[in-house]
Amino acid sequence: SMLTELFKKSRHTVVLTGAGMSTESGLPDFRSALDGMWNEVDPLQLASRDAMQYERNMFVRFYKQRIKKLKEASPHQGYYHLAEWERNGEIGSILTQNVDGFHQLAGSQNVAEMHGSLRVMYCDNCGEKSSSDGYLEDVLECQCGGFNRPGVVLFGEPLPLNAIHQAKVEAKKADLFIVLGSSLQVAPANVFPMEAKRNGAKLVIVNEEETDYDKVADLVIHDKIGNVLADLAEGKALSDKRK
Ligand code: APR
Repeated sequence: SMLTELFKKSRHTVVLTGAGMSTESGLPDFRSALDGMWNEVDPLQLASRDAMQYERNMFVRFYKQRIKKLKEASPHQGYYHLAEWERNGEIGSILTQNVDGFHQLAGSQNVAEMHGSLRVMYCDNCGEKSSSDGYLEDVLECQCGGFNRPGVVLFGEPLPLNAIHQAKVEAKKADLFIVLGSSLQVAPANVFPMEAKRNGAKLVIVNEEETDYDKVADLVIHDKIGNVLADLAEGKALSDKRK
């Protein structure tokens, strides 16, 4: 397939993942028609600093539910392919908008978590960091008396500078930039595909639904990520054998 060819030719492949990477692990995405998570709750309401301050009970309930769901889910096979291709130097890095920590769980090392991580929580007063399992045991208060909040970037908060800097560096280095499962509606993540393209990279978008960037992509695959990564693994294996 064209994706196999592009992947084999590339010297520095960067992968940008969105919530669509985790739906086949049972975690709902944000904006898909019908089953997106935000159909029940309005994201601007709950995943925000305002909600943390003024709707504390709803905020805690929402994140407790998300942390619980996270612990019941696990990375699907596609995550393990990405980690294997990083180990053998075929993938340079992963930039993710996801907060589920699945890339690291599956063995990926070079991961920029641009929206933080639901795996940790930290005190909003003193910054003390701990596992977000505390949410499930209602450990919501830090020794200092501050509120333990999830380690994710809330609407209205700045993004982690180190992750964003890492993403910028990677988008410049990429000669192949593959988007997996993002509607590319949220900045700054949706800036990086264009950044890579401006620097001469080939842009591939793998997403079930159309995105605004399909028209500038070199290759668009409207299919399930699980299928695409399985095919890529098979295609690579076949062409490796042919060598
Ligand atoms: N295979 C391929 N594409 C999929 C799959 C799948 N199995 N499942 C879902 N998708 C696609 C959907 O069609 C959708 O376009 O993944 C995309 C997910 O887009 P969003 O739900 O908008 O998620 P994302 O792009 O990651 O959102 C970015 O917005 O709410 C904030 O901080 C939150 O990180 C999130 C950010």
